[in-house]
Amino acid sequence: MLKDSPSGYGLITIFVHWLCASLIIFLFGLGVYMRSLDYYSPWYHRGPALHISLGLLVLLLMSLRVLWRMRNQYPLPLPSISQNNLRAATLVKVALYVFTFIICISGYFVTTAEGQSASFFDMFSFPATIKLSSVNVDRAGLIHKFMAWGIVGIAALHGGAALFHHFVKRDRTLVRMLSPVKKTD
Ligand code: HEM
Repeated sequence: MLKDSPSGYGLITIFVHWLCASLIIFLFGLGVYMRSLDYYSPWYHRGPALHISLGLLVLLLMSLRVLWRMRNQYPLPLPSISQNNLRAATLVKVALYVFTFIICISGYFVTTAEGQSASFFDMFSFPATIKLSSVNVDRAGLIHKFMAWGIVGIAALHGGAALFHHFVKRDRTLVRMLSPVKKTD
């Protein structure tokens, strides 16, 4: 099934979840790598162009994900999950959404700070909205960097909890995000 239902996630949510997770991990690695390059490296310009395009893709996917989530019935929590676990998991998920949006928006502000647009794979561009002073560009860069490190920590917590549920508690928490709900479920 494409859509989510009270008994589980649909194909679209599962696909977007793993695509965003892979892109965010890749973008983190690429961002750190970019900062280590010198001007003569072939990746000195190529790296940021790819980083910006993929980052904008994450922003688009996450926006679609929020809309998709609002239009779908959310899967019911598994009966084995306690109220406290559920609250902690919800907090972590909200933090992942908030951090991702802040990272993407701060990255967009760093990119467009001098009035230039942010190109999406040379297909179209996100226009600049406000010019930033050099102090504010540095601030946006710092926010981008710290939130990127923060999201890696939160994602590790989120992934660790999923593995704990799968291998220790042996419930369907992780399986639900791997195989889409069937029509008959
Ligand atoms: C969730 C998605 C993203 C992640 C995980 C991420 C991660 C990172 C990391 C780790 C760095 C290196 C930071 C440092 O050491 O200073 C970086 C740099 C950068 N990122 Fe991202 N990024 C993301 C999305 C974006 C987006 C959407 C844009 C632009 C539209 C963008 C633009 C930039 C720019 C311009 C830099 C260089 C910043 C500087 O030189 O101060 N990023 N990113």
